[in-house]
Amino acid sequence: MPGLVDCHTHPAFAGDRVEEFSLRSGGAGYEELQAAGGGILATVRATRAAGADVLRERVEAHAHWMLAHGTTTWEGKSGYGLDRDTELASLRAVAAAGGIPTWLGAHAVPPEHPSADAYLDLALDEVLPDAARIAEAADVFVERGAFDAGQARRYLEVCRAAGLALRLHGDQFTECGAVPLAVALGARSVDHLEATGQDGVAALGRSDVVGVLLPASALFLGRPMPPARALVDSGAAIALATDFNPGSSFTTSVPLVCSLAATQLGLTPAQALSAVTVNAAHVLGRSATTGRIAPGYRADVVLLDAPDWRYLAYHLGGDVVAAVVRAGELAYRR
Ligand code: NIG
Ligand code: FE
Repeated sequence: MPGLVDCHTHPAFAGDRVEEFSLRSGGAGYEELQAAGGGILATVRATRAAGADVLRERVEAHAHWMLAHGTTTWEGKSGYGLDRDTELASLRAVAAAGGIPTWLGAHAVPPEHPSADAYLDLALDEVLPDAARIAEAADVFVERGAFDAGQARRYLEVCRAAGLALRLHGDQFTECGAVPLAVALGARSVDHLEATGQDGVAALGRSDVVGVLLPASALFLGRPMPPARALVDSGAAIALATDFNPGSSFTTSVPLVCSLAATQLGLTPAQALSAVTVNAAHVLGRSATTGRIAPGYRADVVLLDAPDWRYLAYHLGGDVVAAVVRAGELAYRR
């Protein structure tokens, strides 16, 4: 089958959140830990402390995990630096490991800034000019406790003027206006959508904005699944991705995401396959070269050790990827 495309990952981090994972398993809430200075900001502290060399080495390792699950094209966000040096080091590390960098400069408000607006001033004035030379897209976390729709609009409009494509994290916990904003700005995608209601579904159905669904993140946090069937029925384009990150989705397995799509989202294996190949390539602006086995496309091919391609979704947690060819070269063999 075509090489898998993971269009939403956060691989540029150091440290882990295994302690937080244990606390959550015992009943602590993700947003509660976030508000107490843990969560994303805990990874920001670890990532800033690690330095550019360690960060580069971690992203390389994460890229290898992805390859072993059949991923030949992946997007990687910054967003655990939130200062000039660490954000730029994150984007460079993603590019050096073969990923497509997205500047998630608006992931959280770092504690040294008095307000979200003050932080955005600095990010847009001092980081964006260099970030725009490395990244292809910009992303923002629209959520209570992160950035509101007005702040997200300001950030995205300035990023668009700098030549970046636009992505949004929206409706993960609450509907805060990310979907209407994504549609108004003509964003490439709005991602998560676990809390999206009927109006948001209908708005996406009428638009060209892709809904990127991240069921591994919903599973990992014990949250409701996104309304995948309703989105498809409304005419919305959907993609699926891992959301790989240390806090809300510690997995690099696109096949696992396909299993979740088939068992939890009401999508067929065929719908899941197009959501992790052609549609995901479209989100990354690569639909003319990536996501299909066809003349003129990059020779990215996954060989499955299975009697039927649908084992990709059927074999829950299975080790179905036998070999991966990337750009015509054997890149991985089990
Ligand atoms: O997409 N929701 C915001 N960002 C990430 C999680 C980041 C973290 O927990 O470190 C996500 O789920
Ligand atoms: Fe994410």
